[in-house]
Amino acid sequence: MTPPPILRTLADLRGKTRSWHDAHETIGVVPTMGALHDGHLSLVQAAKDRCDRVIVTIFVNPKQFNNAQDLANYPRTEQDDARKLARFGVDALYVPDPDQVYPSGFATTVSVAGLTDVMDGIHRPGHFDGVATVCTKLFTQTTATDAFFGEKDFQQLQVVTRLARDLDLQITIHGCPTIRDIDGLALSSRNLLLSDRARTLAPRLFEEMETVASGLNAGQPFGELQRAAIDRLEKTGFTKVEYLDLRAADDLHLLDAPTRPARLFAAAWLAGVRLIDNIAV
Ligand code: PAF
Repeated sequence: MTPPPILRTLADLRGKTRSWHDAHETIGVVPTMGALHDGHLSLVQAAKDRCDRVIVTIFVNPKQFNNAQDLANYPRTEQDDARKLARFGVDALYVPDPDQVYPSGFATTVSVAGLTDVMDGIHRPGHFDGVATVCTKLFTQTTATDAFFGEKDFQQLQVVTRLARDLDLQITIHGCPTIRDIDGLALSSRNLLLSDRARTLAPRLFEEMETVASGLNAGQPFGELQRAAIDRLEKTGFTKVEYLDLRAADDLHLLDAPTRPARLFAAAWLAGVRLIDNIAV
């Protein structure tokens, strides 16, 4: 198959979707910032399985970066990304020029309270406002009926689900399982930034989370498991563990035992790269 057509303007996107609407076709969108990996491709496959038409978006959204260096370093691999999508029969790759998303004078922010007051909401100030704002734009621009997000960014998935519900957007948000490398490391575009040595150490984050989860399942106190895991991660070479939290899966409230559906969430720095992960407990 051939790579999907790349559309860079809203006018071209609307031209493309018009006939799909006339035919009452469902439209799935997979929002991404590019540097596509198998995790993204699993979302594309889920969208293909469920929808008549599929749009993948690539937009490195400046509003969700709280650090200029992080934005500058973010991998950009558009031609490779288009090639990776060829085998899926994606209908359009929307790579909007920045002014198509944020035209001059853009003054609106979408902000979801509560869910964003914890974890990455604290450690990356403004991040979720940026995510919520760009996702609202991408949903309305693509007029998608369905959107696909990875559980790897579980807090983001909850935020986007809530905003779609609160704003009565006519879109169904689908959460899809995290895809991991053979050694357990959750796939992420940021993994490309890891040095060879850091890449060998990175799976330790998931291993420690699994150790904590088994301890919890065996009835051990969370506080002790948490302290020991953070200690081991720091000895391994992680420079900072921002959080290793046990939280309710629905409202993300802190728990000290998995008394309701719960997840373990972690964010930690390794050799200048911030890794996040989460697993069900
Ligand atoms: O998960 C991402 O890649 C981004 O946060 C998203 C959802 C594409 C919004 O920019």
